[in-house]
Amino acid sequence: MKNHISFFETLLRERCSVSAEDLFKYSHDETEDISILPNVVLKPETTEEVSQILHYCNTHKIPVTPSGARTGLSGGAIPLHGGVAMSMERFNKIITIDEENNQVTTEPGVITQVLQDAVKAKGLFYPPDPASKGSCFIGGNVSENSGGPKAVKYGVTNEYVLNLEVVLPTGEIVWTGANVLKNATGYNLTQLITGSEGTLAVITKIVLKLIPHPTHDLLMLVPFFNAEEACKAVAEILRKGITPSGLEFMERDALLWTKDFIGDNAIQIGDNHAAHLLIEVDGFNSDLLMDDCTKIMAVLEQFETDEVLFAESQAQKESLWKLRRSVGEAVKANSIYKEEDTVVPRYELPVLLKHIKRIGNEYGFKSICYGHAGDGNLHVNIIKGDLTDDQWNNELPKAIRELFKEVVKLGGTISGEHGIGLVQKPYMDIAFSNKSLNLMKEIKSVFDPNGILNPGKIV
Ligand code: LAC
Ligand code: ZN
Repeated sequence: MKNHISFFETLLRERCSVSAEDLFKYSHDETEDISILPNVVLKPETTEEVSQILHYCNTHKIPVTPSGARTGLSGGAIPLHGGVAMSMERFNKIITIDEENNQVTTEPGVITQVLQDAVKAKGLFYPPDPASKGSCFIGGNVSENSGGPKAVKYGVTNEYVLNLEVVLPTGEIVWTGANVLKNATGYNLTQLITGSEGTLAVITKIVLKLIPHPTHDLLMLVPFFNAEEACKAVAEILRKGITPSGLEFMERDALLWTKDFIGDNAIQIGDNHAAHLLIEVDGFNSDLLMDDCTKIMAVLEQFETDEVLFAESQAQKESLWKLRRSVGEAVKANSIYKEEDTVVPRYELPVLLKHIKRIGNEYGFKSICYGHAGDGNLHVNIIKGDLTDDQWNNELPKAIRELFKEVVKLGGTISGEHGIGLVQKPYMDIAFSNKSLNLMKEIKSVFDPNGILNPGKIV
């Protein structure tokens, strides 16, 4: 490795690091407590440098793991086989905001929130908003096909990706498509790279579609006495033809733990509140939004709910969203846990919740469920609690397998938005046939015949 590091030092100077601090920093993302050290951290800042690194690594068969802000939850950025951790943090410029065509061209290392704010200043909207939007990179969002609360109305990342500049493992640089809203030209390489978790190519430029930014929104927090009822209400709201811009579910403990974690005393959780829905509507006409809320309230009357809290100020809206966005972090701070990212057709949500609790009872684990109920996407945080290491390491995978089988039986799949990466890879056979998995492996080897790029992920 020494000779290789000399090559990288000559190429990148101080942007090549082998310091213990850097090796540790790039050894993990937000996935549980997994850490695997790379041999070297590289911080290229031009497409040409990425190309030179990949060409060199391909020639010498050195593993390269692309790394963004390391907020991922499936281990996509963990350098499983060591080698190079290639941080894209220097690619931090928004290149152009094209107001004539409602598009933005950006580098991948721009923080999603920074991108959203920059386009909002021009009245434009980039909707996908993962919980980590204040720290994650847009390149990571594209690589993982990230979602977030707004997906229920606006869709996930891939619906906004029009074109990508990527570097292939050989070092060749290509654009995957065109900067157009319609494209029926051959296989869709843009969409293939989107969500490929850095296993096929390294993204160096991203062209995204934008839409006009809504001018108004309303937010309500609805307490339910029964968690399954809350799940049932989700499908009923959407059946009435209302499309909220957020329809989030939080189990009692998700809210309680998060209130403690962030020190929020403003929201009162009643002793008999089993779950809450956080419901947002947005648009351009406040009267129409009030109509939507009236219709939602009419649906809620069919269920046993406590008094609905309507956010009265921007500050209150922000603190409610902060609560929701902090659930993952709060659970992580509280306990060793594993996070599963189940997704089912949303009508099946109450059944899914029942299965989660049944399997938890059988295997003796507590789970905290929350997530994007409007999309049928439930994050299941399994808490280690009193489980022994043996139960945690050897019995729990069986429970997860059982849960994923139920998910697939319900017509769902094993990740809605967190990706497969490292931690969900052992379960891919539940979601796909051998034939489909082999197709994926063959696609991987067409792009990356030497298997240098983010090896050991997905398949
Ligand atoms: C969330 C992240 C964990 O929804 O996806 O909070
Ligand atoms: Zn989520």
